[in-house]
Amino acid sequence: MLRLIILVAAASAGLASPFFSQPFDLTTRADSLTSSCSTTGSASCHNTSSVSNLCCFESPGGLLLQTQFWDTNPSTGPSDKWTIHGLWPDNCDGTFEQNCDPSRAYTNIASLLSSGGASDTLSFMQTNWVDINGQNEQFWAHEWSTHGTCMSTLHTSCIPSGSVRGTEAVAFFQTVVKLYKTLPTFDWLAGQGIRPSTTQTFTLATLTSALKTASGGFTPALDCSSGALNQISWYFNLRGSIIDGTFVPINAPKAGSCPSSGIRYPPKSGSGTPTTPPSNPGGLPARATIHAIKSGSQIGGLLSLGTWSTQTLATFTLTGTASSFTMTSSKGNCGVSGGSFSCGSGVNPTTFSAVTSGSDLLLASGGSTAWGSDGTPSGSTVFTVFTGSSHSQDYTLTIVGA
Ligand SMILES: *[C@@H]1O[C@H](CO)[C@@H](O)[C@H](O)[C@H]1NC(C)=O
Repeated sequence: MLRLIILVAAASAGLASPFFSQPFDLTTRADSLTSSCSTTGSASCHNTSSVSNLCCFESPGGLLLQTQFWDTNPSTGPSDKWTIHGLWPDNCDGTFEQNCDPSRAYTNIASLLSSGGASDTLSFMQTNWVDINGQNEQFWAHEWSTHGTCMSTLHTSCIPSGSVRGTEAVAFFQTVVKLYKTLPTFDWLAGQGIRPSTTQTFTLATLTSALKTASGGFTPALDCSSGALNQISWYFNLRGSIIDGTFVPINAPKAGSCPSSGIRYPPKSGSGTPTTPPSNPGGLPARATIHAIKSGSQIGGLLSLGTWSTQTLATFTLTGTASSFTMTSSKGNCGVSGGSFSCGSGVNPTTFSAVTSGSDLLLASGGSTAWGSDGTPSGSTVFTVFTGSSHSQDYTLTIVGA
């Protein structure tokens, strides 16, 4: 099925070139295509006056979305990867144009790519840019003709004369793949302890804050289908050309369609990767990340020394049962001494318990789930974690199987 939601018959006045005459001198191949555009000028949607050379400045579609699917019904693509949907040039105000140049609605994308010297891109697409019904060719052609033909910097007038017909589409697919490789949504979630599950649900705040942390500070938009994660949009502006410009990450200007809580992240079926984390007898996870929840929102969690941080969280090994277990990190045993929590080679292990609260499993010391610090971390700042609620920042710690 092609994911053709709205068709705006956009003439894109002034950009569409109705005729293309293929020259005999076929010298420029896609794999050697460069734009010679500067990447130091204004990013798209950030100009303060009109820019005339739209070969080096994406306009009007300067708000670029790299969209990815999490398809579980039927499962599509690798079980540990979100798959590529596309790269869409929205206008700076969030409206958009589509199908801007039917004369360049190329078909047979696979042969365009292999004859254009982009076989590596093609083979990556065959695994990671896949259609839910197996119609990859139609899906790729649709993404190019619907969205790619609206990109001003890929207009044929921006490509060297003498280029093979379709060269700019090859550049489009190469750029989408390159950009997607910088956005490993599955790994970013897993690194924050968020893995597909048949039972667990998540709040939107937990998912967005995990992705914000992992991406270096950028909030994507998350779309849901029947309450389950289905799509993510990572937003960018662009300096220079789609061919070889610099994508500048930005926060999503608007939220996606997911509800604020109860969001499912179902596993993809039919592949060998275990989706249920290993557990101790009684169900306590054997490996977990520890998240800090303050006023209902996740703010980072614990690092391997047991400090509170918004950096990539440590994985802890839990041994025992929910009513009594010990914890270790890569640094050593974890324990509470003099009211402060730490992990390391010289730390005496103490026993903890896990208290169920709604769908969460809370870490408790001496039966209490109250934890606190003297400040809230951000960037590379970390804070000591204390038991009890006598510090300026109070929070709970949730155990998330990893
Ligand atoms: C930015 O440049 C585009 C393309 O020339 C133009 O349409 C738009 O109005 C410009 N924006 C501003 C604020 O001048």
